[in-house]
Amino acid sequence: MNQDELKQAVAQAALDYIKPHLDQDSIIGVGTGSTANCFIDLLATIRNDFDGAVASSDATAERLKSHGIPVYDLNSAAPLEFYVDGADEANERLELIKGGGGALTREKIVAEVSKTFICIADESKKVDILGAFPLPVEVLPMARSHVGREIVKLGGDPVYREGFTTDNGNVILDIYNLDISRPIQMEEKLNNIVGIVTNGLFARRPADLLLLGTSEGVQSIPRKGV
Ligand code: 5RP
Repeated sequence: MNQDELKQAVAQAALDYIKPHLDQDSIIGVGTGSTANCFIDLLATIRNDFDGAVASSDATAERLKSHGIPVYDLNSAAPLEFYVDGADEANERLELIKGGGGALTREKIVAEVSKTFICIADESKKVDILGAFPLPVEVLPMARSHVGREIVKLGGDPVYREGFTTDNGNVILDIYNLDISRPIQMEEKLNNIVGIVTNGLFARRPADLLLLGTSEGVQSIPRKGV
């Protein structure tokens, strides 16, 4: 199977997983990116089986609406039963790097208020140690240079994502060469830098279930202890 087919397979697996739990009142949290897009397109096939969705980005909201799926403000919808989203990297503890598409802040908020976070990814995303993928951080524009200097003190090499503005009006720094052998601790250190809105480490609130697309089929990997 090629990468697109693997994405399609994990999206279908996520739909199969949540479908028995849905009713007319269900509101589903929906992530951002090409894998999440496969999931959105499949959600459209069962759009009469649930109420609507909360979107983690403007792009996802537009795609949901294009399928006639109502999009709700999180403030009137949380807590959510399920959040389904992709990732840039996942380790065996289901800690993630996210934000390749720049939607990390809203993604982290929706993950936080969801009872079950289902991560869907093809096998290229599974790693032993997080950090080969440059870690995105969303930064208030006026703090960009300050945050960059603080990141250098942590051993990382920040690169400004040129020409990109987040849905929240901020900028993204992608951090290369950061030691993320202790993801929870690094997430907290980054949270403590003034000017960072959100960092793309999802370790304090990891995924609960990873549906991983492999050439042998979709592996279902629950977080240990869940
Ligand atoms: C967007 C994300 C995406 O989930 C991540 O970039 C994976 O995207 P894709 O499914 O296209 O590989 O975090 O901010």
